[in-house]
Amino acid sequence: MAVTNQRYSAIAIVLHWAIAFAILFNIPLGLWMHERAEANDVSEGVFRAFQLHKSIGLTVLVLSLVRVGWRLTHAQPSLPVHMPTWEKQAARVTHLLFYFGMLALPLTGWLYVSAGWSVHTDRPLVVPTRYFGLFHVPDLFGLSHADDDVRASTAFNVLKLHWALGWATLGLAGLHVAAALKHQFFDRDEVMAHMVPGLRAPFAKDSAAQDGARLATLGFGLSVTALLGLLALYTVFTLPMGNAPPLPPSTFQTVEATTGADTSTATASTTATPAATTAATTTPTPSPTAGGVVNWRVNQGTSSIGLSFVYQDPENGDTTFNGVFGQWRGDIRFDPNDLPHSSAVVIIQVASAHDGVDIHDRGLPTAEWFDAGAHPTAEFRTT
Ligand code: HEM
Repeated sequence: MAVTNQRYSAIAIVLHWAIAFAILFNIPLGLWMHERAEANDVSEGVFRAFQLHKSIGLTVLVLSLVRVGWRLTHAQPSLPVHMPTWEKQAARVTHLLFYFGMLALPLTGWLYVSAGWSVHTDRPLVVPTRYFGLFHVPDLFGLSHADDDVRASTAFNVLKLHWALGWATLGLAGLHVAAALKHQFFDRDEVMAHMVPGLRAPFAKDSAAQDGARLATLGFGLSVTALLGLLALYTVFTLPMGNAPPLPPSTFQTVEATTGADTSTATASTTATPAATTAATTTPTPSPTAGGVVNWRVNQGTSSIGLSFVYQDPENGDTTFNGVFGQWRGDIRFDPNDLPHSSAVVIIQVASAHDGVDIHDRGLPTAEWFDAGAHPTAEFRTT
């Protein structure tokens, strides 16, 4: 057992800061995602944000397991002798709660996505998790194959927990930082220097402390580099590069409905009813080139995007299945007197395809059909 009484070891410092940055990054990202999903924003950017959040969260889970292992097998710097017992106990409880949060937060997130059920639409939504775009992460406990009731109640309950743990961890982090600052500036002891690279206790002068500081700086640098490296990997592998191509004149960019090996075929059709067609109720935001063209609001309640496919069976005849895409958005700019400036874009979250047949609902997002992991959205554009 390695004893480091002056500071935490470089490994412990790297793990501490990598986990801290990742959690602090993931909390606002998660809250933002939730808000976007509530607003039915199914754009590519939101999909990427979900994948990024899940990948960083799973990284936190792995790093936290390593950190717990390290903590159990290595001695920690002892707390200053002047600290009263209550303060030492408060520090221990805070640290224990941190370890709990570091493991429970990612696990509840993982459970939520494993259920494959959207709390926003209260419908099945299986979106494969790709770790930084590199490989697929399996579902926990085969939850996406469970009954709908189980999947729905798991999703609603664990997401509530996930949310509560996020806020609790944020509160704990606030307490933790306040305590560290108190040690540095009021108690003027060595507690903060144990973990902050390059920092020396207000009273420290010896060269051993300086060596430790150099090692710790290295650890800090490595952890930041590792984080940036992961983000870069993610960018290279999954984020779309460059600007979106310009709208082609007067054509549809059609949904490529991938057919399965059983020679089924798929088509998609759309009906959209403008709920409010006047400038006053639609709060139009004319684009620079659109002149007076009005933005129409699609009435989601009375509109749907249908999906129909035929199962071809030479022995028993063909069967047609009809379903819908549960999540989509339409941006329509239209003025019958100004067709050159009119256009419509419909963005569909392909993983939301369902027809009520359980085996189809689970299969449609997979690579055999729409391959939602690789092609999260389908877009119709017309001018
Ligand atoms: C460092 C670890 C993590 C932190 C700090 C974190 C934090 C959060 C927070 C605060 C939210 C907002 C919750 C809400 O408003 O309802 C959220 C949402 C979410 N998290 Fe995490 N999370 C972590 C790990 C994970 C992991 C590992 C996964 C899945 C593999 C995940 C999946 C999700 C999903 C899918 C949502 C959005 C749910 C929705 O549609 O509203 N999270 N996260």
